[in-house]
Amino acid sequence: MPGTRESQEQKITVDLGDRSYDVIVGHGLLERAGSTARALATTNGRKAALVTDSNVGPLHTAPVTASLEAAGYRVHSIVVPAGESSKSMEQVTHVCRELHRAGLDRGSFVVALGGGVIGDLAGFCAAIFNRGIPFLQIPTTIVSLVDSSVGGKTGVNLPEGKNLLGSFHQPAAVIADIDSLATLPMRAYREGFAEIIKHAAIRDRAMLDEIAQFRDGPAGITSLIVRNVGIKAAIVKEDERETTGTRALLNFGHTIGHGIESAAGGALLHGEAISLGIKAALALSVAKAGLPQADADQVVALLREFELPLALDARFSADKIMEKLARDKKFVDGAIRFVLLRALGDAFVSADITRDDIAREVNRLFVV
Ligand code: GLY
Repeated sequence: MPGTRESQEQKITVDLGDRSYDVIVGHGLLERAGSTARALATTNGRKAALVTDSNVGPLHTAPVTASLEAAGYRVHSIVVPAGESSKSMEQVTHVCRELHRAGLDRGSFVVALGGGVIGDLAGFCAAIFNRGIPFLQIPTTIVSLVDSSVGGKTGVNLPEGKNLLGSFHQPAAVIADIDSLATLPMRAYREGFAEIIKHAAIRDRAMLDEIAQFRDGPAGITSLIVRNVGIKAAIVKEDERETTGTRALLNFGHTIGHGIESAAGGALLHGEAISLGIKAALALSVAKAGLPQADADQVVALLREFELPLALDARFSADKIMEKLARDKKFVDGAIRFVLLRALGDAFVSADITRDDIAREVNRLFVV
């Protein structure tokens, strides 16, 4: 993006004691991935496996591989089909067998190059291969830059529901190259703003006014990305394993959103399903937590600005969404802990939302 390039790279530390790491945000970082990996290395291992997908691979593998090779690594590339269906145990088996075939050991590392699916899959393989080897996250989408690459959640889906298998395995570093956003199709670019809007809604009301300017492209977006990574890093530092309730706030819009995403069977991108989930969670916040309607309307207007879906049509079934949603791992003993807003920037976990409340909001999402 000539003329819009912000030159300085910035580092946000995810402060987790001996599992701390940096998220490096800037331009031209793919070409420097090898020296970043070498600087982090605690052994003189020479092998790396680069896991990517069939969309990202042809666009971004070459500079990363060349840079790793220049830093002295032998790189084994593993390409999985693009899309959520690769977040499966079949692909875990495939990737881990490839890691074994390539002779990776505990002195080696995995590089996850791609969006959230690749980060979650490759990170999970790194977590379990040889009982755990290091990995580098190189996110190439908005969703993965601001959310899924940071915080160590890795895992795959079961046919019964999303993210039902997984592990906390923090990366050694996150290399967030803004340039990789330039190749994103507009739909994939815009879906990521559901997560940015979520961060603003739960933690940073003022950020809502900074978002709309990026509707048509990422020129000048570095400081917005840094701000979002900062929000995520602070929450992860406070509650790495989602035990105190703080990290659960990141699930705002995700209980209903995940149910819709699972039921949609690939028809909606993650951020598109989350947009619907946010709309429903805002309505519940107005009804049950005193969120002013005007605040809910402001967030919905921003989702609309990014052309994110706000209604469901006859392709979807409320019963199927409720069936998927009931299997969400956020249900404990049949009760859900649901994230609501008292005000923009002030989120909390409520134990007062019932299945009927959720079903009513799911039904309201349908266009009549
Ligand atoms: N994406 C939600 C979390 O990392 O906790």
